[in-house]
Formats: sequence, structure tokens, C-alpha cells
Amino acid sequence: MPDGQLEPRISAEQIQLRIAEMGRAIGQDFPEGGRRLWLVAALKGACLFQADLARAIDRDTALGFVRAVSYGAGTESSGSVMIVNELHDNIANADVILVEDIVDTGRTARVLLDHLAAHGPRTLRLASLLDKPSRREMPIAIDYRGFEIADEFVVGYGLDHAESYRNLPGISVLQL
Ligand code: IMP
Repeated sequence: MPDGQLEPRISAEQIQLRIAEMGRAIGQDFPEGGRRLWLVAALKGACLFQADLARAIDRDTALGFVRAVSYGAGTESSGSVMIVNELHDNIANADVILVEDIVDTGRTARVLLDHLAAHGPRTLRLASLLDKPSRREMPIAIDYRGFEIADEFVVGYGLDHAESYRNLPGISVLQL
């Protein structure tokens, strides 16, 4: 069993209500009949959010995946971000939304947005379930934001600590 104490922060119900609102906003911004819409998840943390967000958007939506790593087993970023799974889909001239679990320093989002931009999408936006603005090191515009949180280490709903806690339906602060 993983170590640490969990203090509930955002319930599963709150997450689903917020995702329903975000899905409606995305559907209004990109109505059916236009270009193909891609939701590209930043693995591994955003996979649950991508799955629920896709089902909250009332139009055809394509799913893509990328993966960048920066965190090790601890709770602090190692500093450099490396893409370990590139995008393997053709998103040229499409509407693309990068789906992130959390924007913390912003380094991961920056690297992944630049990676996707190099594939020539017509539009490129960012959806993040969580935003920790107090730790930002570079300006990142979050077009669809779920919740702002304080400078605390959170787990659940896709977010992990050393690969544990990802399958919790809500989000909790982890006290180690
Ligand atoms: P950034 O590059 O500093 O913005 O960090 C982004 C990545 O760090 C996220 O995709 C997460 O994988 C991880 N991360 C940042 N804060 C947390 C947290 O509070 N809990 C779990 N993972 C986090």
C-alpha cells in the first residue's frame, strides 16, 4: 500500500460537474461541421480527464496521446522536460486541444504545446483540470481550466505519487 495521508480536496461529483461545463464550452467553441477536433492527452496523468471530457463534448472528437516526463518518484520537478511519446497522428489543419491534468511550473505544457504546434494544427488550445498558478515559471494561457489549487501536492483522478493513487475518483492533498 502507498504511504501518506490523504485529505480530500475536490470530490468526484465536483469534478464531473466542472467537466460537463468545460465540455459544453468546448462544444460551443468548436461546433460540429467544422474541422476535425482532437483532444490530445498528456499521459499519464490526463488520461482519466481526457476520457470524461471527450464524453462531455457533444460532437465527434478524435483522441491523441503524448507523454513528457519531468517528475521522478518525489514531489518536485527534476527541472528538465523530455518528450518520451511523440504524437503519431496527423493533426495538420485540425482544431487541437492539449489536455493536461495540472499546470504547475508550466514547463511540461510549454514543451508539449511547442511539439503539437510543430505538427501544423489550425488552432491549438489548452485544457487543464488543475492550475497551480503560484508555482508558474513561464506564462501559459489555459483556455479551459477546471480548478485553481494552492501550492499543495495532490493525487487522484489521474494524478499520482510514484504511480499510486491515479484511480481515486476524487482529488486529495497527499501529506507524506
Ligand atoms: P509542470 O511541468 O511543472 O507544469 O508539471 C506538470 C506535471 O508535473 C504534471 O503533468 C504532473 O504530472 C506533475 N505534477 C505537478 N504538480 C503535481 C501534483 O500536485 N500532483 C501530482 N503531479 C503533479
